[in-house]
Amino acid sequence: MDISGSSACLFMDDSSEQPDQEADLLAVVLAAGMGTRMRSTLPKVLHPVAGAPLISHVLDAALGAGVSRILVVVGHQGDRVRAALGESVPSVLQEPQLGTGHAVQQAMKALNPVPSRILVLCGDTPLLTSRTIAAVLEASGPAAVTLLSAHVSNPNGYGRVVRGADGRVLAIVEEVEAGDDVRATTEINSGLYCFDGLWLAASLPNLRRSPKGEYYLTDLVGLAVAQGREVRAVVAEDPTEVLGVNDRAQLADADRILRERFCRRLMARGVSIVDPAATYIGKDVRVGADTVIHPGTHLQGRTIVGERCEVGPNSIIVDSTIGDDCTVLASVLEQCRVADRVSIGPFSHLRPGATIATRAKIGNYAEVKNSAVGEGVQMHHFSYVGDAEVGSGTNIGAGTITCNFNKRGEKHRTRVGKGVFLGSDTLLIAPVSVGDEASTAAGAVVTRDVPPGKLAIGIPARIMGGGEQKEPPAPNLERADGDEGGS
Ligand code: UD1
Ligand code: MG
Repeated sequence: MDISGSSACLFMDDSSEQPDQEADLLAVVLAAGMGTRMRSTLPKVLHPVAGAPLISHVLDAALGAGVSRILVVVGHQGDRVRAALGESVPSVLQEPQLGTGHAVQQAMKALNPVPSRILVLCGDTPLLTSRTIAAVLEASGPAAVTLLSAHVSNPNGYGRVVRGADGRVLAIVEEVEAGDDVRATTEINSGLYCFDGLWLAASLPNLRRSPKGEYYLTDLVGLAVAQGREVRAVVAEDPTEVLGVNDRAQLADADRILRERFCRRLMARGVSIVDPAATYIGKDVRVGADTVIHPGTHLQGRTIVGERCEVGPNSIIVDSTIGDDCTVLASVLEQCRVADRVSIGPFSHLRPGATIATRAKIGNYAEVKNSAVGEGVQMHHFSYVGDAEVGSGTNIGAGTITCNFNKRGEKHRTRVGKGVFLGSDTLLIAPVSVGDEASTAAGAVVTRDVPPGKLAIGIPARIMGGGEQKEPPAPNLERADGDEGGS
């Protein structure tokens, strides 16, 4: 899993589409924690939500807010997290993991000179939006700390924001340290902060270890107040944005909220989604107007679907491009390209490298892999086309199979020309080619090339129709010529 692609280059120079934050701003993303409550061998920040790892949503949100310099703190299974981030994302190691304050201390060691503002984000808050991050940056001014808080109905597990009688923030108290009165507070700490960089550098060494043995970053708020430094709080307009993912239930909540968000974004652009709660669309997916997406559909990765398509019910499309006016019913498409006015399914599978030209029909239980299927090709029932080219207007009869793989593990290609009629149950033993306008009878096992316009018949197939084979077809196969193509 390499998530560097989705987050582009994290030290981007050309942030032309984002608000322009000053260069002397750096974001530190905390991703070193064990994630104990996930009970998983996969590092928490790599758990996918809405089709992408938790941390990639956080990185994208920061980039979208115009933060072009990002440093990730990795620790628990750091190599795995680094591998997923890709080489373009700088990181520092926190070893051992002694809390969020300790994590930022490790980041600070790598910062010379110290940026004037340091944004800190948790890698487990995938619902934060660029807009909210930008609002915190906007509000920060000369404050030592500007934090994002939220009023939530269920504050369990979060640090609480404690305010004085005048409403000013006094401290953040972690739940484990909180008495009943503080626990009753429903204003929580989101884990997003903008710090005055120099103040942060000077104050991090003052953190004291908690009874739990951790250095809490949140203790800096109380320290700033004690020094008479200003602490600001921005209250999130949408409290769902601050959801932190610490366990599987929160992972499912985050997934649901993100999916709903992506669906709403598409619906606002003219896409019909029959049941958003039962539709699974990734963040980078693009869909054209007037396309209808039916329940049980998963659109993932870099998938693009054109206009006026019908997708689903129950289709899974990953990293594929679909043209306009297509239907994809109950089928699976992976890394393939489909042109306009193509109909696929039900129950077909397009595997990596399949390209399907305009007006082709890929029907029931058809599989295409690493093959180009030409314009208007009819491939309706139970067929496999692998490592092949099929010319335009060709009919692929029911049960036709390209036998592309031999027992030595070698793969060979099959070439089928234009306007060919492949009778039902034709087996094409690659490498082999069938010329334009040629035909095969039902059940033909084609081991040799069929010249254009000829008929291949039998097992192994003989070439008929004025070709070099003189003997007549076996009587039980004659009837099949042209009548049982399967389409
Ligand atoms: C933290 C905050 C809490 C806040 C909540 C918001 C602290 C002490 N508490 O609690 O006030 O309400 O986030 O979601 O900061 N991490 C490291 N190194 C470590 C420990 C953690 O990098 O040694 C990373 C984790 O990978 C994670 C983030 O920091 O991405 C937050 O850690 P987590 O353990 O989830 O903290 P919370 O208990 O959620
Ligand atoms: Mg957390």
